[in-house]
Amino acid sequence: MIKLNSKIYVAGHTGLVGSAILRKLRQKGYKNIITISRKKLNLKDQNKVFKYLKKIKPEFIFIAAAKVGGIYSNSNYKADFIYDNLSIQLNLIQGAYMSGVQNLIFLGSSCVYPRMCKQPIKEKYLLSGKLEKTNDAYAIAKIAGIKMCESYNIQYGTNYRCLMPTNTFGPNDNYNDLNSHFFPALIKKVHQINIKKLSNLTLWGNGKSRREVIFVDDIAEACIFFMNKKTKESLINIGTGKDFSIKQYAQIILKTIIPNKNIKIKYDLSKPNGTPRKLLSISLAKKYGWQAKMKLKESILFTYKSFLKKK
Ligand SMILES: NC(=O)c1ccc[n+]([C@@H]2O[C@H](COP(=O)([O-])OP(=O)(O)OC[C@H]3O[C@@H](n4cnc5c(N)ncnc54)[C@H](OP(=O)(O)O)[C@@H]3O)[C@@H](O)[C@H]2O)c1
Repeated sequence: MIKLNSKIYVAGHTGLVGSAILRKLRQKGYKNIITISRKKLNLKDQNKVFKYLKKIKPEFIFIAAAKVGGIYSNSNYKADFIYDNLSIQLNLIQGAYMSGVQNLIFLGSSCVYPRMCKQPIKEKYLLSGKLEKTNDAYAIAKIAGIKMCESYNIQYGTNYRCLMPTNTFGPNDNYNDLNSHFFPALIKKVHQINIKKLSNLTLWGNGKSRREVIFVDDIAEACIFFMNKKTKESLINIGTGKDFSIKQYAQIILKTIIPNKNIKIKYDLSKPNGTPRKLLSISLAKKYGWQAKMKLKESILFTYKSFLKKK
C-alpha cells in the first residue's frame, strides 16, 4: 500500500501517461515523488540507471517511459522501437529488483495481442497468434517486458504488474504529423479544418477499423489503484469495454469541436488500416473493483483545450 510519504519514482513523467500519473499522485496528496529528465538520465544507459535506482531507492516505481508512436513511425522505425523499449524496460525492471523495489507497475499496450484476436481480448490470449506486422517490433518489446515482470514475480516473489491500456488520449499527447496515434491525429486534423475553413476530413485507411479509446486520467487512476491492490495475475487490461470505428470517432470529434459544420469524410486508401478490431475484455480489472469513468465528449473537449494552450 502506498503511504502519503512513500518514495515513488515515475519514469517518463513528461509523457502523456507519466504526466497524468504525476498529476493524480499530487492531487491525492503523495508527497515524496521522484522524477528525472531524459537529459539527466537516459534510461537506455544501463550503468547510470542501475546507479540511480541504487541511490534513490524508491519503494514504488511506475514505468511510463517508452518509445511510443503511431502506425507510421512503428512501421518505419522498427529498430528504434525494439531497441529503445527493450533497453528502457530491461534497465528499469532489473535495476528495480537490484535496488530492492518490491512494487512496480509496467505499462504495456493492447498491441501486444494477436492481430486477429478473438474479441473482446482477454489477458490469456497473449501469444495465441500472429502479431500485426506494422507494430510487431514494439509489441515484441512490450511482451518481453510482461514476461520479465512475470518471471521476476515467480523467481523473486516481487509484485511487478503490467497494465495493458487501450488507445489513450489526453493532455500532453503527441500531435506530430508522422508520429502520433490516430486519436490525437484526428483532433489535430479537425482543428486544422476549423482554422483553415476546410470542408473535407481525410482519414488514413478505410475508416472501418474499430478501436477502443480511454482518457489518460482513467489510466493514471488505474495505475495507482493497482499499485495499491494485491492481484494474483500480473497482466491486467485497462479499457472502457466499448469501441467505435475510426469513422465514428471522426464524426464524434467533428461534432464536439466544430458543431454545426458539415464536413465531408474522405479516405486515403493508400494508407494502412492496421488491426481490424481491438476491444479489450476488462472483466479482470472489474473483478478487482476498477472501472473507467471517462465521458467521451467531455474528455475530448478537455484534451482539445490543452492542445490549444500548447500551440
Ligand atoms: N499513448 C497511448 O495511446 C498508449 C496506449 C497504451 C499504452 N501506452 C503505454 O504507456 C506508456 C507511456 O506512453 P505515452 O503515450 O505516455 O508515451 P509518451 O507521451 O511518448 O511519453 C514517453 C515518456 O518516456 C520518456 N522517454 C522515452 N525514451 C526515454 C529515454 N531513452 N530516457 C528517458 N526517458 C525516455 C519520454 O521523455 P521525453 O519527454 O524526454 O521524450 C516521455 O516522458 C508506454 O509504455 C506505452 O506503451 C500508451
